[in-house]
Amino acid sequence: MEWRHRHVLDLDSWDRSELQHILEQTRSMDELLDRPIKKVPALRGKLVVNLFFEPSTRTRVSFELAEKFLSVDVVNWTASGSSTGKGETLRDTAWTLEAMGADAVVVRHGAVGAADYLAKKLRRSVVFNGGDGAHAHPTQALLDLYTAWKSLGDLHGRKLAMIGDVLHSRVARSDIIAFSRMGVKVELSGPPTLMPRAPEALGATFRKDPHDAVRDADIIYLLRIQRERQEEGMFPSLDEYHQFFGADSRLMGSARPDALVMHPGPINRRVEISSEVADGPQSMILGQVRSGVALRMALLFVCLGGVRQ
Ligand code: CP
Repeated sequence: MEWRHRHVLDLDSWDRSELQHILEQTRSMDELLDRPIKKVPALRGKLVVNLFFEPSTRTRVSFELAEKFLSVDVVNWTASGSSTGKGETLRDTAWTLEAMGADAVVVRHGAVGAADYLAKKLRRSVVFNGGDGAHAHPTQALLDLYTAWKSLGDLHGRKLAMIGDVLHSRVARSDIIAFSRMGVKVELSGPPTLMPRAPEALGATFRKDPHDAVRDADIIYLLRIQRERQEEGMFPSLDEYHQFFGADSRLMGSARPDALVMHPGPINRRVEISSEVADGPQSMILGQVRSGVALRMALLFVCLGGVRQ
């Protein structure tokens, strides 16, 4: 397939065949992760800067591992200790790193549109969005799609129940696009104050009762309560949230015993998910983490013109 996306900013314009292509590329990389020696010279000579303005464990570490497994030279930049503290702008920081030879930047930023802005300003570097405000987290959605596809095969006609803070979640926005474009029916549930105003416009429907949402679902996707992006008082208390919307044995009692349980992490135990569900047999959470490495290898390979050995 001729690849038309120079950058990975969001999934808005990705079609089903492009999603399928990345799933297949990710499967090849996933097979590579089973080898005793994972490193291949596919992107030798390329330089990638990981530019993180917000905290991250999974996205930052998995991009770094993916880069190292593909023999990329890696620079990890964080805002603390950088010249951002002296007032340097995002654009000047990125231009500086590009002048040092960056072929790509992975950016996570609290501002909606930060990755898109860099893609417009940078002259030659490819931009990967590692999460921008509450807008998009495309690589998370792609790794989620891969995790589900790896377990279930063709996703067309499947159902995903997404429960939690959809309103503030960049993961939710990107996942709804990715899954619905692959023919998955998406139902949302959670406190009405944490729901988007028009779920139908996103390609999803709203279920007031989470037990109705999880019934017949093939995938139950829990979202973290994004306290850092919320105003006060959007629901009474974390205990009450858990009681009504948390994934525990009661909620799972309404679900199919073979439904996959997914969560992007980091998880808040006893809030959106109980330990018995997070660590239980249906949980795919650590599988998602592994998929994240393979998926990011696939994206780097495709977007930076990797050479198969
Ligand atoms: N899922 C996710 O983006 O996790 P991190 O914030 O740890 O990168």
